[in-house]
Amino acid sequence: MPGVQVRPIEPGEYELAGRIVLSAYESLPGNHLAGGYAEVLSDVGRRAGEAEVLVAVGLELLGCVTFVPDNSSPWAELLGPGEAGVRMLAVEPSAQGRGVGRALLTACIERARQLRREGLLLHSAPWMEAAHHLYGSAGFVRLPERDWFPVPEVPLMAFCLALSPD
Ligand SMILES: CC(C)(COP(=O)(O)OP(=O)(O)OC[C@H]1O[C@@H](n2cnc3c(N)ncnc32)[C@H](O)[C@@H]1OP(=O)(O)O)[C@@H](O)C(=O)NCCC(=O)NCCS
Repeated sequence: MPGVQVRPIEPGEYELAGRIVLSAYESLPGNHLAGGYAEVLSDVGRRAGEAEVLVAVGLELLGCVTFVPDNSSPWAELLGPGEAGVRMLAVEPSAQGRGVGRALLTACIERARQLRREGLLLHSAPWMEAAHHLYGSAGFVRLPERDWFPVPEVPLMAFCLALSPD
């Protein structure tokens, strides 16, 4: 996306990125912030230490995503061998609809290819409609057999992008 750079997060950005992730999730319908998940979403510093956090930056910070390189990370969510994951993709609500989310997802796909992963897996709640549109248009397919329920009120739908070795 012109004017927007996607790059690894810097420590001075953890707090703002956490607020952006939380406000993006707060703007959604659905009951996904129950049970302390708001604190988890905001804790970008922890994710940066245990996975890879990328940010989209224009004139200011616009969005954030956690790339999970493999299933050894505590942020791996049902990853199989050879798979990487995407967690907590979020764009500041006032910056949505301008291609920032797609730029962050594309960077994750590129990173997974760079690491020669066989697939990129993510989970998403049914009410995350913009995200589902984005995943479908980026080539992800639904894998209902890998859906799961971390808590009864939050069903998580699996989407996967198969990556060829070349
Ligand atoms: C999902 C999210 C990251 C997308 O970010 P974004 O910057 O708005 O996305 P983009 O501008 O790159 O748009 C991506 C596509 O989604 C489409 N889209 C945007 N809002 C939409 C909506 N409400 N319904 C359907 N499609 C929508 C866009 O039209 C675009 O498709 P196109 O390129 O074919 O026109 C953002 O909406 C968000 O932060 N949502 C809240 C958190 C969330 O749901 N995260 C997903 C976790 S799994």
